[in-house]
Amino acid sequence: MFLKGAKITAIGSYVPARRLTNSDLEQMVDTNDEWIVQRTGIRERRISREDEYTSDLCTAAVLDLMKRYGKSIQDVDMILVATSTPDFPFPSVASILQNRLGIPSTAGAIDMSAACAGFVYALHTAHAYVASGLHRKVLVLGADALSKITDYTDRSTCILFGDGAGAVLVESDEQLDGFAGFHLGSDGSGAHHVYRTGLSRSVNEVELVDTGKLVQNGREVFRWAVRTVPQGVQQVLNNAGISLDQVDWFIPHSANLRMIEPICERLNYPLEQALYSLEYFGNTSAASIPLALDLGIRGGKVLNGQQILLYGFGAGLTHAGQLVKLELAPEVSPPTPL
Ligand code: ACO
Repeated sequence: MFLKGAKITAIGSYVPARRLTNSDLEQMVDTNDEWIVQRTGIRERRISREDEYTSDLCTAAVLDLMKRYGKSIQDVDMILVATSTPDFPFPSVASILQNRLGIPSTAGAIDMSAACAGFVYALHTAHAYVASGLHRKVLVLGADALSKITDYTDRSTCILFGDGAGAVLVESDEQLDGFAGFHLGSDGSGAHHVYRTGLSRSVNEVELVDTGKLVQNGREVFRWAVRTVPQGVQQVLNNAGISLDQVDWFIPHSANLRMIEPICERLNYPLEQALYSLEYFGNTSAASIPLALDLGIRGGKVLNGQQILLYGFGAGLTHAGQLVKLELAPEVSPPTPL
């Protein structure tokens, strides 16, 4: 039972300028454009500069949001940053943003770790904060600089990942609630399928490969996601009390187009109504869903009031789905080109 409504009122995004194309990757590892496009649907990714970190990507995404919607962030009372590639284990990216963006020091600030499901987890948390009446205006970011932890000698991973950030504002509303059903979960028995070693070098009694870079068993993650996501989507719909044909847009995590296809097939949902950001940005982890949402908005497809089903999944293994209806404020200036 919610006390108040919560709605997404503004969005912004950013990707670094440098492009890493499939033909660039052909010069780096034994791969080719045809294999990459056929197996993943990815053509390019954006790579941050050496001195550009997740906090910088986030800052640019928030500046885009403010410019487009003329929104002040002076009254933001909570900052949530979903990321697996924070500038530091601590201080948090959220604390860095609070200071850099001049948000009052009375605002809460935390980073959230749920890998590629992180943005939806953060959005779910923002909804809970606002709908409970505990907070009024929450800045939610999904951002990752995966190029910093990608092994560019491993052809099975380096073709996938890119960098980017997306930001949304979740604000309180006395009448409207732009958030409907949700479903989330995690299966730690698969924790050793996607990881980067940290203080420990084993999990689930499995010795991990200690490269300091992202390591994954792509096939296992693929199989798990194609099995788990359609069931999770059904739970979101049950929870919201609507049917899939009422969903205007489905935005699954942009891991690989070849995963999105069987997920849509199992759901019997038209692939043309699935939005993704992977073709030119690759897998940007926590940023992939807000980037896909913003591409849809920038392209004039996604409109206020439509039912949009977001579903993130990734390392953990974590997954999270949320049905939202946007209530974006009128744009006062055009978005910064991506
Ligand atoms: N170019 C050419 N050949 C390649 C490449 C490449 N870039 N990469 C792998 N291959 C080869 C393999 O060596 C293998 O060759 P072999 O048969 O001679 O052994 C063959 O292609 C098939 O390899 P698979 O691993 O079976 O290829 P698959 O079709 O499964 O694609 C991929 C691999 C793209 C990684 C896929 O499994 C995938 O996308 N998995 C999901 C990854 C994911 O979603 N991760 C999310 C977590 S990320 C996070 O949470 C931060």
